Amino acid sequence: MTEHVLLIGMMGSGKTSVGRRVAELLGRSFRDSDAEIEAATGRTVREIFETDGEIAFRREEATVLRAALEDDEPAVIAVAGGAVLDAENRRLIVEHGAPTVWLHAALGVLASRASTGDHRPLLGDEPLAALERLYPEREPIYRDLATLVVDVTDATPDDVAAQIAERVLA
Ligand code: S3P
Repeated sequence: MTEHVLLIGMMGSGKTSVGRRVAELLGRSFRDSDAEIEAATGRTVREIFETDGEIAFRREEATVLRAALEDDEPAVIAVAGGAVLDAENRRLIVEHGAPTVWLHAALGVLASRASTGDHRPLLGDEPLAALERLYPEREPIYRDLATLVVDVTDATPDDVAAQIAERVLA
């Protein structure tokens, strides 16, 4: 198997923590689009949002996603929550044909998990309200792209990762 494994889903769904574990289980490297943007630009996600705006951030996001997908070394890739809003990013994901796992949970659960960290300026002071605003546009996109949906509501990152690794290796 030479394809990447992609993790998609809303902020707080655990793409990074689960992705790291899946990568360990599969013996692959782990790539996270937010971390790659920060490494490539030398700036934080928040700084880019606040100084240059969301459109500029989305451009950086598309660049790192393309580079990750085009890399021949199979990896586990955490695709930041909003990257799928871009039609060209979606086209690349579909064209790549990799297992694409949607980490899914109720918005209330996501809101409490997404409150940690500083790289989610879209959540503002009211994470649940922000997620409720963003979700209707994103939900059909995640559903469409997903080749596997995992409910992460009651599962630990280790359990979720084990489920994903098992399915990918099957
Ligand atoms: C965003 C998700 C964040 C980060 C940025 C925007 C989004 O990444 O890219 O704050 O629009 O959903 P995570 O999905 O890793 O939280």
